[in-house]
Amino acid sequence: MKTHNIKFTLNGEPVSLDVEPNDVLLDVLRGRLGIKSPKVGCDRGDCGTCTVLLDGRTVRSCLALAVEADGAELVTLEGANTRKWTQKLQRKFHERNAFQCGFCAPGVILSATELLEKNPRPSDHDIKEAIAGNLCRCTGYEPIVEAIAETAKGK
Ligand code: FES
Ligand code: FES
Repeated sequence: MKTHNIKFTLNGEPVSLDVEPNDVLLDVLRGRLGIKSPKVGCDRGDCGTCTVLLDGRTVRSCLALAVEADGAELVTLEGANTRKWTQKLQRKFHERNAFQCGFCAPGVILSATELLEKNPRPSDHDIKEAIAGNLCRCTGYEPIVEAIAETAKGK
């Protein structure tokens, strides 16, 4: 298969990489670039643990091809320091012990980042809607929603 050279920004750093047309973004991130925060959960688009930000929008990297990152700005939780809200959310979740096992955490925090970048004053309904695609088997979601709401309010 013909390889493609793709260039993109990963957590603020330029990356140039040869990929196959059918290489999956999640596999490339974890297997070739050592980016381990996007997790392999369902591997079919249902759980949100593989969520990354591509040009500021959440994408399920298990469903995206690596070639889709060509020319884009890609952010994972490792690049939290490149986004104002990501860092604040991370601190608040830690302070509030809002996660238990933490498997869903990178995806939830990036979904919340996308929300707060677009809408810094979300209602609880907005928050629930924004994280609806991120499954958490531990918390019952309440501490997650509270932590996002408190981050938005700067509490
Ligand atoms: S691993 Fe991608 S949505 Fe579940
Ligand atoms: S804290 Fe365990 S899956 Fe969310």
